[in-house]
Amino acid sequence: MKYTKLGLTNTKQMFQDALTGRYAVPAFNIYNMETLMAVLSAARTTHSPVILGVSESALKYMGADMLVGMIGGCNISPDMQIALHLDHGNSVAACQHAIEIGFSSVMIDASKLPFDENVKLTKQVVDFAHKHNVSVESELGTLSGIEDENTFGTQSSYTNPSDVERFVQLTDTDSLAIAIGTSHGAYKRTAPTQELRFDILSEIAKRLPDFPLVLHGASSIPTDLVNTINEYGGNLSGTLGIPSTQLRQATQMNICKINVDSDLRLGFTAAVRQHLAQNPNNFNPREILGAAREMMTTICINEIRNIMGSENKR
Ligand code: G3H
Ligand code: 13P
Ligand code: ZN
Repeated sequence: MKYTKLGLTNTKQMFQDALTGRYAVPAFNIYNMETLMAVLSAARTTHSPVILGVSESALKYMGADMLVGMIGGCNISPDMQIALHLDHGNSVAACQHAIEIGFSSVMIDASKLPFDENVKLTKQVVDFAHKHNVSVESELGTLSGIEDENTFGTQSSYTNPSDVERFVQLTDTDSLAIAIGTSHGAYKRTAPTQELRFDILSEIAKRLPDFPLVLHGASSIPTDLVNTINEYGGNLSGTLGIPSTQLRQATQMNICKINVDSDLRLGFTAAVRQHLAQNPNNFNPREILGAAREMMTTICINEIRNIMGSENKR
């Protein structure tokens, strides 16, 4: 399936516009009808470009036919700018498969490999993807936290600014995810005073002017959501996200895409727990999941307005 048939676009124009306008395009992870509808509803309300992030495990969970069927059912209109993006693809085959079924953008995450192997794998994906007018994101440096349900990295290493120009030149990648202190999941920092490494970001941006950079592990982990979860029977402690102020600062420094998954997971869980606790007689899944969908839509709209700065950029 060619992605244009689904009303999707690649990320090239989105990122050019984001660089010029100094904002970030949100990439929200989706894994079912509720997350997909929430993200698209927020995109429609705010007139924001949006990237639908699908991890390999999410793709396996939904199945390719189901995902493509659901996207086709969303009636994405030409006035919207929506990309379908493989998040953390970990092989050339996974990226090729995604492109064949209708993705308009893929990430090849070979960041745990040595530099030369990362270049080799990324270049293979770029060669294939560009033949299909699909954008490619790659990564230099590694984040800690949960990257995929199968992998948990305890080590992180910041991106080395002296590697970035050579990497981009050798691979022809369209965007680059960098490690400057974010991490996946809800436990991102050990102390509230810990700041992102804006010195590294600034050095990278200087070496790669006008080139789109990406932040993974960038959920803000709102305390009200964590509190609601805990109030209604959950048990999360020690959560700490990336403050919105720091994310906004990053959007002013060539960060064109900000990835958010955990915030929607928290929103989903908070809404379901609250709904069930407040309506103990209700066993109607549409109402339970409807509450979750509504909550996730609100979170996406808030983040588009208050973090990404991408409202009315479509
Ligand atoms: O960055 C990774 C995402 O949070 C996806 O996680 O593989 O559990 O869907 P997942
Ligand atoms: P969070 O865990 O911070 O939401 O990060 C999501 C992500 O990077 C998806 O690729
Ligand atoms: Zn990620």
